[in-house]
Amino acid sequence: MRVLTGIQPSGDLHIGNYFGSIKQMVDAQKDSDTFAFIANYHAMSSGNGGEKLANLTMQTATDFLSLGIDSEKSTFWVQSDVKEVLELYWILSTFTPMGLLERAHSYKDKTAKGIPASHSLFSYPVLMAADILLYSPEIIPVGKDQIQHVEIARDIATKFNNEYGDILTIPEFQVQEDVQTVPGTDGQKMSKSYKNTVNIFGEEKKQLKTIKKIVTENVAMEEPKEFATCNVYNMAKLFLEGENLKALEQRYTQGGEGHGHFKVYLGEVMWDYFKEYREKRDYYMSNQNEVREILKAGALKASAVAQPMMEKIRMATGIKY
Ligand code: ADP
Ligand code: TRP
Repeated sequence: MRVLTGIQPSGDLHIGNYFGSIKQMVDAQKDSDTFAFIANYHAMSSGNGGEKLANLTMQTATDFLSLGIDSEKSTFWVQSDVKEVLELYWILSTFTPMGLLERAHSYKDKTAKGIPASHSLFSYPVLMAADILLYSPEIIPVGKDQIQHVEIARDIATKFNNEYGDILTIPEFQVQEDVQTVPGTDGQKMSKSYKNTVNIFGEEKKQLKTIKKIVTENVAMEEPKEFATCNVYNMAKLFLEGENLKALEQRYTQGGEGHGHFKVYLGEVMWDYFKEYREKRDYYMSNQNEVREILKAGALKASAVAQPMMEKIRMATGIKY
């Protein structure tokens, strides 16, 4: 089963990204043919460019490799290293009714947030359809906000196939229903745009400082405390299992400790949890050429799928003459 996903290179990764998405991708490598790419062309549509984009692309690649994307098990590449995607983008745009894009939520949401209304932002779903259809995946794991984009890819593929025969695989989206929303330091959904993140990589002291900012109830030290609704507990439980989780729950209910103690504990378990990943990241940070080599090899693997597919499409559409 081929599973494909794209990741925008958009900055420091936080534990919401990890538990909401990266960990599932890493786990999926065990039993599926995973295709994962860094969507750098997409990032341009929100105004990223120049040196910043180049750096973010390398940072995201480094972080994903450190967190367990395995270039032996997966095909892992940077979107712009396989140019066929832009050719397919144009061809698919000729199968895209304006109305389909005019109904897209993400364009409206992004422009409402102040991102300039460029053509690239408007046609983003067509490029995303090309990302998907070029590689014939069966499954696209997505967050709820991306469902509509996969539906648009399905519509475009169906229109294309009606004209030229069954060339494109119609993808299915898969929503991770069981993935809970990780709360941020203020209790809202953790998100870069809310500035309430606890980042995966960073200095220990800085991380603890962030954790200390987590909003908690005001209850006297000796009183029992509610754990189920506590933001500190809800973050800590992502890192704990069985006995250790039970023990923390008991510390809440028995009283005698303040939220400050639980915060220190959260800092410790989180620091331990990412230890191995941090070491891998330190290695890749001082061996960026190795990251570049991995991406190059990944682009070759991706091209080996994209090129014959594109040849088929060129033949069918008469671009090859
Ligand atoms: P951000 O909101 O910080 O900009 P993104 O939108 O780039 O994060 O999200 C990247 C991935 O991480 C998506 O698959 C999204 O579903 C997941 N994700 C982001 N924040 C959370 C969260 N708080 N809880 C669970 N998953 C999350
Ligand atoms: N649009 C996705 C996001 O913002 C990223 C993405 C680009 C993607 N191309 C894709 C996801 C193809 C899945 C499949 O998160």
